[in-house]
Amino acid sequence: MILIFGGNGQLGQELARAGAVRGLALVALGRAEADIADAGAVDRAFATHQPKLIVNAAAYTKVDLAETEVEAARRSNETGPKLLAQACAEARLPLIHISTDYVFDGTKPGAYLESDPVAPTGSYGRSKAAGEAAVRAANPRHLIIRTAWVYGEFGHNFLKTMLRLAATRDELRVVADQRGCPTSTADLADAILSIAPRLIAGAQVWGTYHFAGTGVTTWHGFASRIVAAQAPLTGRSPRVTPITTAEYPTAARRPANSALDCEKFARAFGIRARAWEAETDRITRALVAAQGEKAAHVA
Ligand SMILES: NC(=O)c1ccc[n+]([C@@H]2O[C@H](COP(=O)([O-])OP(=O)(O)OC[C@H]3O[C@@H](n4cnc5c(N)ncnc54)[C@H](OP(=O)(O)O)[C@@H]3O)[C@@H](O)[C@H]2O)c1
Repeated sequence: MILIFGGNGQLGQELARAGAVRGLALVALGRAEADIADAGAVDRAFATHQPKLIVNAAAYTKVDLAETEVEAARRSNETGPKLLAQACAEARLPLIHISTDYVFDGTKPGAYLESDPVAPTGSYGRSKAAGEAAVRAANPRHLIIRTAWVYGEFGHNFLKTMLRLAATRDELRVVADQRGCPTSTADLADAILSIAPRLIAGAQVWGTYHFAGTGVTTWHGFASRIVAAQAPLTGRSPRVTPITTAEYPTAARRPANSALDCEKFARAFGIRARAWEAETDRITRALVAAQGEKAAHVA
C-alpha cells in the first residue's frame, strides 16, 4: 500500500486519481487527517495503513507569504519531512519526498544538475532545502524529486490564474525574464507511480533526482501558450505583454533561471515528462471544458 501525505494538494489529488486509474492500493491523507509535523499523527497513519511506501506531497507552497510566515514554512517543509523520514527509517520504509527548483539561486546559465550546489533566494526555498537535508540525514532509503512550476486540474496554480484573468482582461502583463520548466501534475504523478513498485521491490536507486516538464520557457511564454490554447474555446484573445521582474515586485526573490536537467531520472527509470507545450494545451482545454460543463449545469 502506498501512503500519500498532502493528499488535498495539486499533486496529492492527482496521485489519488492516477492511483485509482491504475488500480493501485493507495491512500491519500489530507492535512486534517495527518499533519506531517505532528509525530503522533504520522505514527497513527503508519499504524492504521501499514504502508510499503510513503510519498510526501505535503508542503507549504506560498512562496511570497513564506517571507513573513517563516515558521509555518519551516514547520511543513523541514519539521514535517524530518518526522516522516524518521518514521520511515524506523519502519524501514522507502520515502519519496518532493522538492523544488527554488532551492537554486538561478545564476547558472544552463539547466541545473542534481549535483549543483543549492543556494535558495527566499524563505520557501530555504525551508525546502532544509527539508531535503533532513530527509537525507534521517532515512537513506529516500528519493528526493525536485520539480518545478507545477500545474494541473486540481488546486491552485499559474495556469488557472491565467485562465481566470484571460476571461476578463484585455491585457495580461507577465514576467519574461524568469526561465523554468512547467510541469504537469499528471506527468509527475505518472512518474512517481511508475517507479513506486520498483522502490517497494527494493531497487537500490536512492538519492536526489530532477523531474520536470520537457522544455524550458518563461512565465510569459507559459502564459502565451495558455491564452492561445483557450482562445478557440472561449473566443477570448487578450494581449500577453512581456514585463521584467523589476516591473512586478514580489516579496520573495525568485531565481532568474531554474531550468532542471532531468537526464539522471530518465537514465535511472526510463521516464521523461511530456513536452510542456502539449501538456499545457491538454490541461487548458480540459479546464475550459469543465468550466463550460459547470456553466451548463447552472444555466
Ligand atoms: N506548486 C509549484 O509550482 C511547485 C513547484 C516546485 C515544487 N513544488 C513541490 O511539489 C510538491 C507538491 O506541491 P503542490 O503544488 O501539490 O502543493 P499544494 O497544492 O500547495 O499542496 C500542498 C498540500 O500540502 C498540505 N500541507 C501543508 N502543510 C502540511 C502539513 N504540515 N501536513 C500535511 N499537509 C500539509 C496543504 O494543505 P493546506 O492547503 O491545508 O496548507 C496542501 O493540501 C511540494 O513539495 C512543493 O514544494 C511545487
